[in-house]
Amino acid sequence: MPEAGSVLFSTKPEKIENSMTQIARQVSQFAQDVKKGLTATPKYLPSKYLYDVNGDRLFQRIMALPEYYVTRAEYEVFKFQSTQIIRQAVGREPLQLIELGAGDGMKTQLLLTELLKRKVDFSYYPIDISSNALKMLSQSVRRLIPQDFPMLPLQGDYFEALNSPQLKSDGQKLILFLGSTIGNFSAPEAAAFLARLSSMMERGDKLLVGFDLKKHPQTILNAYNDKQGVTRDFNLNLLTRMNKELGANFDLSQFAHFPVYDPVQGAAKSYLVSLKEQEVYCSALRQRIFFKAWESIFMEVSQKFDMAMIQDFAHQSQLRIVRSFTDSRMMYADVLFEKS
Ligand code: AVI
Repeated sequence: MPEAGSVLFSTKPEKIENSMTQIARQVSQFAQDVKKGLTATPKYLPSKYLYDVNGDRLFQRIMALPEYYVTRAEYEVFKFQSTQIIRQAVGREPLQLIELGAGDGMKTQLLLTELLKRKVDFSYYPIDISSNALKMLSQSVRRLIPQDFPMLPLQGDYFEALNSPQLKSDGQKLILFLGSTIGNFSAPEAAAFLARLSSMMERGDKLLVGFDLKKHPQTILNAYNDKQGVTRDFNLNLLTRMNKELGANFDLSQFAHFPVYDPVQGAAKSYLVSLKEQEVYCSALRQRIFFKAWESIFMEVSQKFDMAMIQDFAHQSQLRIVRSFTDSRMMYADVLFEKS
């Protein structure tokens, strides 16, 4: 895999060597994080590891599920309000359109099309830790938009990539953080993330963040407990990943997917619950992991927000809310912030 901040798909030998080292480093980071999480009380696993190639595929299926309203609600915002979003978001040119996390391109193509229609001088920089996700996004965007425009995928950590020399410019940045990915942070983590992003922005730069809003608790719970069991498989896939990559021997049939929603905190949380007392061996960790009957592993938080929380974030991060763009059912808001 290329270094953080480098342009993707280079085949030079030194790059291949770097790739091998990077993969080894990532595997050992994965092993360390798993060890930390599964020896903690209560047990947890970092949700970023849900997204291997199979996890990416399962997440694509989640986005199309009838219960998972999140993707459709945000798509509706972009479908009907891209013109207004771009009108409010673009000031100085050249514009650097920076997307944190490669989505499937469906929403971004609407913004890109609008930029092309308005003949804005721009370059598009999708950033993601997963080269596979970036490759899928690039292919999908090129397929969806016939016109040519500069697209420069950056593989690596968001903040390292944001610091890369390619992103130094006198123009304006418009940073996208869509798909309710901010919800995979707890509320204090989300605040800290936005403050860090803001510290890397210049006055006048803009940031568009997709927030899933608080709504009927049952609607939220159903989104993480679909009838087809795709969300269950998505969570269990992390056990499969540990079996494959870390030589573990999890028996998937002995763990149940259990999502809950707390309407006070606005947090949907997913757990895997051990159905019996059991021991799992992980050869990469040279470690036995004990599970009591009904012991849980915390897998993921999907935080939901209200406007008061979002205003608080803005206030704490030296950001000004320019406008919120909501879908017709007020399920979801894409909030445009400006660095003040
Ligand atoms: C990526 N993220 C915003 C999704 C969410 O809604 O928290 C991940 C997800 N997990 C289960 N379903 C969807």
